[in-house]
Amino acid sequence: MPNPDKIFIAIGGGKGGVGKSIVSSNLAVALARLGKRTVLVDADLGAANQHTMFGLDRTGPTLHGIIQGQHRELSEILVETGTPGLLLAPGCGAIPGAANLEGNAKARLMEAVINVSADVVLIDVGAGISFDVIDLYNLADLRLVVVLPQLTSFQNAYAFLKAAVHRSIEGAADTQARRELYQIASPPSETDRIPGLLTRLREHDPTYARMAKARLQHFGVELIGNQIVSPKERGTLVAVAKMFQDFLGIEANQLGHLRFNRRFGESINARRPLIQLDPLDDCSRGFMQMAQTLLSRDVLGLRKGRTAADEAPAPIPEAALIADLHALLRA
Ligand SMILES: Nc1ncnc2c1ncn2[C@@H]1O[C@H](COP(=O)(O)OP(=O)(O)OP(=O)(O)O)[C@@H](O)[C@H]1O
Ligand SMILES: [Mg+2]
Repeated sequence: MPNPDKIFIAIGGGKGGVGKSIVSSNLAVALARLGKRTVLVDADLGAANQHTMFGLDRTGPTLHGIIQGQHRELSEILVETGTPGLLLAPGCGAIPGAANLEGNAKARLMEAVINVSADVVLIDVGAGISFDVIDLYNLADLRLVVVLPQLTSFQNAYAFLKAAVHRSIEGAADTQARRELYQIASPPSETDRIPGLLTRLREHDPTYARMAKARLQHFGVELIGNQIVSPKERGTLVAVAKMFQDFLGIEANQLGHLRFNRRFGESINARRPLIQLDPLDDCSRGFMQMAQTLLSRDVLGLRKGRTAADEAPAPIPEAALIADLHALLRA
């Protein structure tokens, strides 16, 4: 039976190797332990390794079968993970071209992910900022960003979110005129800020600007600081969130921090997520805490907020004038 309260969570971060897959696998187990029927989608197309992390051999069908149209529903490829309530949609590795989807293939993948039966769908989107990656990321209600306390990681997280924000504003353009306005108003510049873009849109089309702003105000970004060892490094994450607010017009919550922990390396070699191997490790407990926090977020409120401006378009001037005249006559 379809679940209207199904939550979509995507994990990104732009940069390779920051810990996205570790966070995805451990969080997925944590969510299942909290009683949520969880599906983990290994959408790191071309370099998938969640099945390895769960000690599984990828002998059955994978997302490649969905992309190619041999399977239509995710349920046809899901495998057990050793944690009750958590199923994995294995990704495809080392297939040249798998990371670049043509239009139909992308639509098939998105549709399968959207329609899967679950309480929570967690998507490990992989590195990079191609449209395939960004569009999967933007499917989500809650957008997790994993960052290391390093300048290059901040830079890549920023570039990643900026690409997601642009794609979302472009997606809010519901007419040809608005699509053209977006193209003209959004110069491909590294230093351009999103609030400036919204101002330019507002000058020509206030309704479109409001729709775009509503999407950004409810973007649902959750920061995870990985390999954090000092309070000072925690502080840098607060500064990063402020930068996202100023430059991208989006609010980013601090979901949690993970310290550098050698046991993650061990857990990968043991082919079990750390939280399965040692639920009492402080990082495992950290994942339980993060899962709880994610489940407490007002996802339905975010969804509603994103489309609020669509539901209440600005009155066209003539209609507003007539409404004013009516009010005058009734006074
Ligand atoms: N908190 C941590 N402590 C110690 N090692 C870590 C930690 N986080 C990640 N690592 C190490 O970093 C490596 C990369 O992690 P992971 O595969 O999750 O990154 P990723 O962002 O998914 O990379 P990719 O973009 O290549 O998919 C792992 O092999 C792991 O050993
Ligand atoms: Mg990964």
